[in-house]
Amino acid sequence: MEKKIVLLPGDGIGKEIMESAKKVLAAIESEYHHRFILQECAIGGDALDRYGVPLPDDTLHACNEADAVLLGSVGGPKWDNQPPKFRPEKGLLGIRKGLGLFANLRPVKTFPPLLHASPLKEEIVKDSDMMIVRELTGGLYFGEPSERRNNGEDVVDTLAYSRHEIERIVEKGFESAQIRNKHLTSVDKANVLESSRVWREIVNEKAVDYPDVEVEHLLVDAAAMKLITNPSGFDVVVTENLFGDILSDEASVLTGSLGMLPSASVRTDGLGMYEPVHGSAPDIAGKGIANPIGMILSTALMLEYSLGMQEEAKAIESAVMDCLEQGYHTADLKIKDGKQMSTDEITEAIIENLTTKCISD
Ligand code: NAD
Ligand code: IPM
Ligand code: MN
Repeated sequence: MEKKIVLLPGDGIGKEIMESAKKVLAAIESEYHHRFILQECAIGGDALDRYGVPLPDDTLHACNEADAVLLGSVGGPKWDNQPPKFRPEKGLLGIRKGLGLFANLRPVKTFPPLLHASPLKEEIVKDSDMMIVRELTGGLYFGEPSERRNNGEDVVDTLAYSRHEIERIVEKGFESAQIRNKHLTSVDKANVLESSRVWREIVNEKAVDYPDVEVEHLLVDAAAMKLITNPSGFDVVVTENLFGDILSDEASVLTGSLGMLPSASVRTDGLGMYEPVHGSAPDIAGKGIANPIGMILSTALMLEYSLGMQEEAKAIESAVMDCLEQGYHTADLKIKDGKQMSTDEITEAIIENLTTKCISD
């Protein structure tokens, strides 16, 4: 197959882990005889430096023409004092909104060889396997007004949703539960927020259309607690943009590192943008030690969800699992056994597993 993929490396470790993704894609091309036409475009601080805006029109245009998009990460201290419109993060929010990617799917599953890497007890984390379905183009991130007023004396951010925006993400949550373990936890703050009360009503209305799915409502503060005391009690979690952002970083602790988590940002047709959950990690950028696994697993999600390459995606996932079983890991995983590797070394180890497996199959 021939597929067009736009690469958005972005800033900090985004650039480093995108190199890993490119190597994995090259290995898939040669093992499975595909052709990936890769186009690298600017976003975030990199785009600000080169073009004066965090999301150049050319980037958005190229993404719209592609079969799929891979994103590294954006942001960093260099741009932290920019006016709101000229922050790197605006580029990321703009591309999600511009492409209509309203659903962010964040699978969180523990890796058996890494159970001891979590600061939580092994018996607590061991059966964790959930999908966080985060609303991505509305809620507190996008509501207007959002501004400083009266010379900065007052400030406002707005949490706004239309019924349609809530319905489509809730449907995504139910659909995801139907193909998993048929349990949906809707997370809100309905004891305080009007938007959450409407969210809850919509979940209850939609539940009638999915009688095989068991629905539970949880307030976000309690959900944050249960996520680390009884993570195996979750199957699919559907929630507002900011709640989903916070809960997914928290959930990454189950796996041992934020660097392990992939995500897919999708809309109703096949186009998707695939991005690790973590950021540009300025504290380790440039050192060559970033964990590329969240990025590599995002690449696998891209092959599976947008490019119709299920077998290839499974091959990447099992190459990653083999590498963890071999004891290979990067420095963010706080474990003493096994072998600590650089970004490049662990990428090579994963590719070695991938190609060996393909030859033996
Ligand atoms: P971060 O996710 O970049 O880093 C948090 C911590 O996790 C750091 O200690 C970092 O070293 C570590 N970490 C994250 N990913 C890692 C990896 N792959 N390998 C090893 N260690 C890893 O969050 P932050 O420090 O709060 O934010 C830094 C910048 O990134 C900010 O500008 C923020 O806006 C941006 N950000 C971007 C995205 C994105 O592009 N999707 C996501 C989150 C944060
Ligand atoms: C993420 C990030 C982004 C978000 C930021 C950088 C805008 O934290 O992808 O999780 O909050 O969505
Ligand atoms: Mn985040």
